Amino acid sequence: MPQTPKDGTTVVLPRGLRKGLTNYGDTGFSLFLRKAFIKGAGYTDEALDRTIVGVVNTGSGYNPCHGNAPQLIEAVKRGVMMAGGLAIDFPTISIAESFSAPTSMYLRNLMSMDTEEMIRAQPMDAVVLIGGCDKTVPAQLMGAASANIPMVQLITGSMLTGGHRGERVGACTDCRRYWGRFRAQEIDEQEITEVNGKLVASVGTCSVMGTASTMACLGEALGIVMPGGASPPAVTSDRIRIAELSGRQAVEITRTGLTPDRILTAKAFENALRVLLAIGGSTNGIIHLTAIAGRMGFEVDLDAFDRMSRETPVLVDLKPSGQHYMEDLHFAGGMPAVLRELRPLLHLDALTVTGRTLGEEIDAFRPFPQTVVRPIADPIYPAGGIAFLRGNLAPGGAIIKQSAANPELMEHEGRAVVFEDSADLASRIDDPELDVHADDILVLKHIGPAGAPGMPEAGYLPIPKKLASTGVKDMVRISDGRMSGTAAGTIVLHVTPEAALGGPLALVRSGDRIRLSVSARSIALLVSDAELARRREALTQQPAPAAPAAPLRGYRKLFLEQITQADKGCDFAFLRATEMVGRVPGHAADAADAADAADQE
Ligand code: FES
Repeated sequence: MPQTPKDGTTVVLPRGLRKGLTNYGDTGFSLFLRKAFIKGAGYTDEALDRTIVGVVNTGSGYNPCHGNAPQLIEAVKRGVMMAGGLAIDFPTISIAESFSAPTSMYLRNLMSMDTEEMIRAQPMDAVVLIGGCDKTVPAQLMGAASANIPMVQLITGSMLTGGHRGERVGACTDCRRYWGRFRAQEIDEQEITEVNGKLVASVGTCSVMGTASTMACLGEALGIVMPGGASPPAVTSDRIRIAELSGRQAVEITRTGLTPDRILTAKAFENALRVLLAIGGSTNGIIHLTAIAGRMGFEVDLDAFDRMSRETPVLVDLKPSGQHYMEDLHFAGGMPAVLRELRPLLHLDALTVTGRTLGEEIDAFRPFPQTVVRPIADPIYPAGGIAFLRGNLAPGGAIIKQSAANPELMEHEGRAVVFEDSADLASRIDDPELDVHADDILVLKHIGPAGAPGMPEAGYLPIPKKLASTGVKDMVRISDGRMSGTAAGTIVLHVTPEAALGGPLALVRSGDRIRLSVSARSIALLVSDAELARRREALTQQPAPAAPAAPLRGYRKLFLEQITQADKGCDFAFLRATEMVGRVPGHAADAADAADAADQE
């Protein structure tokens, strides 16, 4: 595609197979060699002369959430071919939640680097990213945004729901619910084994508004997923059609030069943050959006996000905040139905991957009566799906998903019962001698970004067995970790700075009193400053931990050197944009003005 620099000359950039030639010191030979090898796979010169769309294949035997990847690739290729392009698929890392040790979040940034570098390294004019399971879509958006070539995000789609003894079930809210019932001895060994075979009824991503569904919806709100592309279940014809359309559109945007930096703007991120709140989305969504925004040069202002939260109702009635499943959202019109309700609160002039604005896409949707997406005047939760907390326990902030919390615990003071790390938790939580009462506050340290490492979804601490068996279903729980988007409870997460970096969480001791006030947005450790100073001094006097058995090396070394805290999206410091150009939400107009001014210089 020709480009016109500021001096008025026209530069024709290489496209297709001529892009990014391998350096042999002779460009003619480089192209000759590249063609010779790919012809070995049976391509003709005519095929190789076309616009090339790379298709990121994240199919993996270890990733059932991407089990439909072969069908999606076939449909994308068909769409590319229909539009006159040539599709070439290539693999990258694939991450599935329950198959990734120590935790999938540890690998997200590695996948983003793989995605970015393989897009840069291989000749392609546009890319279709096939992702679905929790960390894959954020990793792909982070990597492809940094590579900044035209892209379309394609979602694998949610799994179907199953049935257990007459009850509809789906991963993973019901996985947790049944496990909780088993721990409380409400169901026996036979039933927990039986339901294990019913919770996941097909390939695809978790069937509730967990992190995967959240990121699919946020992709559509950002305008980088095709309209209606977030909700079709994995095994439906609608999903395959979206794949074909994504392929077609990928060719189209090479003609118009629609690069991600024109779509992933401050306004788009504000829209996505708004949608995160309105769908009752996963708390992980805020970390991933922060990371993606950081690649484009935007900081997320969490205080402004909290103000946005206070004026944004939760409209989507899906588990874990509500009743329904992703396939119900699809039958109810999917994201276009949500966006139509939210219309007054969105930036309608934000550009989408179709080349039309978000407002134009919303106007194209014809609403119909349904009960899953509530009218803005009759929400399932009035405001503030996610609240941002501050206090002496979390100077850098913490969050709570109040739409999935127990209203009776959101103003609560209690005695801390502290677990130093995951191993300590595992060894004592079910000890019949554990000194714990229902109105205590469970605190888990050292599960933050650097501490675990990888910030595992261990923030959903189990209710101690001795309390669970008496019917206790929820307690206030606090940690520097994350929680699955499929989980629910009065759970304070992402305490920043984390304990491993010496945050105040490291100073909490069993018996301290902690006060949570969601209405005041505060989380306070009720211990005097003098005593905290004494504890900090004692902490620094402790002997350094014994040197690890083997010297730190490889990816783990890179991770620990570069990982940022939750308020920076847990991205690696060196992967974020080299220059920050604005803050979201609440500052989109300012950021756009600044960008315009820069363009005019
Ligand atoms: Fe993949 Fe839930 S485990 S989406």
